[in-house]
Amino acid sequence: ELMKVFITRRIPEEGMKILSGATGVCEVSQWDSDEPVPRAELLKRVQGAHGLLCLLSDKIDAEVLDAAGPNLKVISTMSVGFDHLALDEIKKRGIRIGYTPDVLTDATAELTVALLLATARRLPEGVEEVKTGGWSSWKPLWLCGYGLSGSTVGVIGLGRIGMAIAQRLLPFGVKRLLYTGRTAKAHAAEVNGEFVPLDTLVSESDFIVVSCSLTPETQGLCDEAFFSKMKKTAVFINSSRGAVVNQEDLYEALKSGQIAAAGLDVTTPEPLPTNHPLLTLKNCVVLPHIGSATYSTRGVMSALTVQNLLGGLQGLDMPSELRL
Ligand code: GLV
Ligand code: GLV
Repeated sequence: ELMKVFITRRIPEEGMKILSGATGVCEVSQWDSDEPVPRAELLKRVQGAHGLLCLLSDKIDAEVLDAAGPNLKVISTMSVGFDHLALDEIKKRGIRIGYTPDVLTDATAELTVALLLATARRLPEGVEEVKTGGWSSWKPLWLCGYGLSGSTVGVIGLGRIGMAIAQRLLPFGVKRLLYTGRTAKAHAAEVNGEFVPLDTLVSESDFIVVSCSLTPETQGLCDEAFFSKMKKTAVFINSSRGAVVNQEDLYEALKSGQIAAAGLDVTTPEPLPTNHPLLTLKNCVVLPHIGSATYSTRGVMSALTVQNLLGGLQGLDMPSELRL
């Protein structure tokens, strides 16, 4: 009898092709839509599954695992982040996990740099002024922002993505590169990174880039105390997970001029409601979680996610297994 797989969304064809080439291995049931599978439907469709292919927007907790039942061997998520997976529960049940590190590092770093420049140089505001007739003349004092040349950049979480961001920012003339995290990293030498305490990073940086994973230690890390230590001219960028930031505190810091601007590719919740206070602020640029969104990267993520799934189903090596 074929093993059963449930796929929670429509994914790029690269992965689906690999799956259709593996006919003897599994039969596939898929939520064939670009929109998320409703929770009740997920709980129903996962029943008896040996493999689950999910996205970062699917919360995989004890309820889902119980609904799946004892067949479940592998959960393969099409993401580098895994804060949506209840790791303890998964480990307890001996289920293997696949994820997609490395393949989205360049795309995500590139988007983070784009967001930083767009926020610091006020691109969305400028575009809006052109469209709405606010552009009356070249003006010496109009739409000025902050540049990277001679600046200090602070990276919170100098992992794969944080490193790739640092490597891309340095050629803009960054003078000092500070970073913080659980431990100092040997690879920091490649970007002249100085390992400093969080407080030092926060108070000395002109640009703060959050690139850490979401854990109990980083949840709500960027709060009122954090923003109050930032320079009034500093720009805050987050492309990791929304929950690292206390959004009420960020709103107050932006509104009161405690900090200059913020660029967010991630929020809580996602999607952010269109009436959210942050969206009323000109100095806040919000993107819809598109860090890895290049055609080629999403194709490679899709293929890797399916390869992980197939490896896990067959008890073989998975190209990117998350080892707990
Ligand atoms: C994106 O946020 C990912 O985790 O892949
Ligand atoms: C973790 O998300 C990393 O690759 O930096």
